[in-house]
Amino acid sequence: MKPYAFTFILPKFATMRTAAVALALLFGGGAAMAADADDVREGLKLARQICADCHAVRAAEVQSPNRNAPSFEDIAGISGITAIALKVALRSSHREMPNLILNEDEIDRIVAYILSLPGDR
Ligand code: HEC
Repeated sequence: MKPYAFTFILPKFATMRTAAVALALLFGGGAAMAADADDVREGLKLARQICADCHAVRAAEVQSPNRNAPSFEDIAGISGITAIALKVALRSSHREMPNLILNEDEIDRIVAYILSLPGDR
């Protein structure tokens, strides 16, 4: 499927699957995700188990263990970042990032956690 010409989200990370995000936004609508405290807490737990080998997952951490991996704080600080964009990012493959097998609930929780970070705005 040919994507729309639509420059978008996560411009700092050139490997982002721009097309997938654009499509998700066009057709996924603005389904707001109500993140509750449990999701955020579970998301942090998952992030520490699954993502922390490479990413700085805590707000206070600046440098990711894998220097090419953006800190979650940085990801949270991308202007215009949305739950939908992050979910798409987590489902698409990355050059250097292994394809992580996460179920929908896990994705929701990790996304809730990332978006709960203050971000470096
Ligand atoms: C083996 C190392 C590794 C693991 C584990 C890992 N990442 Fe990454 N991640 C990277 C690297 C390297 C990048 C930057 C380059 C790229 O996108 O491939 C990245 C980029 C990202 C991005 C930026 C957006 C994008 O699409 O490029 C997000 C969001 C992200 N990771 C989330 C996560 C989450 C959430 C987890 C845990 C569920 C995770 N990563 C686990 C290495 C990793």
